[in-house]
Amino acid sequence: MSDFILTRTEDHVGVCTLNRPEVLNALSVELMDQLVAALESFDADSNIHVIVLAGSEKVFAAGADIADMAEASTVEMFERNNLARWLRIKAIRKPIIAAVSGYALGGGCELAMHCDIIIASESARFGQPEINIGVIPGAGGTQRLTRAIGKFRAMEVILNGRFLTAQEAFQAGLVTRVVSKEQFLAEALRLAHEIARRPPIALRFAKEAVLKADEMFLTEGLEYERKLFYMLFATDDQKEGMKAFLEKRPAKFMGR
Ligand code: CAA
Repeated sequence: MSDFILTRTEDHVGVCTLNRPEVLNALSVELMDQLVAALESFDADSNIHVIVLAGSEKVFAAGADIADMAEASTVEMFERNNLARWLRIKAIRKPIIAAVSGYALGGGCELAMHCDIIIASESARFGQPEINIGVIPGAGGTQRLTRAIGKFRAMEVILNGRFLTAQEAFQAGLVTRVVSKEQFLAEALRLAHEIARRPPIALRFAKEAVLKADEMFLTEGLEYERKLFYMLFATDDQKEGMKAFLEKRPAKFMGR
């Protein structure tokens, strides 16, 4: 079996790298299965607090594998149940930082949008060009891009297949930060290590609460947040964090 996903760890950071360069990291079923397995394995590893998902400097991912689905019927696509794979990525509880350089198109853009922070190189290009091959985004693009950049900008990207430059994506709110193409991975890792020093349970609760903002009305969301906030008072890390503040010393978080 090919290694379409390379993994490594750096202290409390797990790194997944897309590795199918001959087809610009096209997201075949096999690649997606390996990606889900790698992300779930980091999610279950108590030593890992933050995950970085990277492509290469040339390409993040050029979308779903078109060769895989060109001749497929509706029933075959339904049976492949790709949505289940995407839902498993959505269910990863630890923060994921996407390190995007070059193309993030179709499923590649949707994959970046499944992450929690996007660090882009100045050469990054974001787009949903499915319209050019007779379909529409199928892994959340119409929903997540619209929430990220608003209806009127999302419509142009989705209806006309226009690519956003890294700067446009940043200005529209899709990207957290733009850096040089020499620096994009280093910057994603730097940020990951910084976030990984925070209390790990609170990190997961914080991600969960922010994601609920897209799914709940405000009053329910506020109540949901408040319950997670109260639950953190059952952790040693809350006691340690507040005690360390009052004692004017750095906190030592244990993830309990
Ligand atoms: N699927 C399968 N193969 C792909 C691919 C994809 N999404 N994207 C690129 N490739 C392959 C090409 O066929 C080519 O293979 P060969 O060398 O065997 O010919 C190789 O990767 C290199 O690609 P190009 O020669 O096209 O490279 P380029 O630099 O000229 O163009 C590009 C780059 C603009 C990204 C162009 O490859 C492209 O438009 N790709 C398709 C983008 C796209 O339509 N993505 C959406 C897919 S559908 C989807 O994602 C549905 C969903 O919502 C989940």
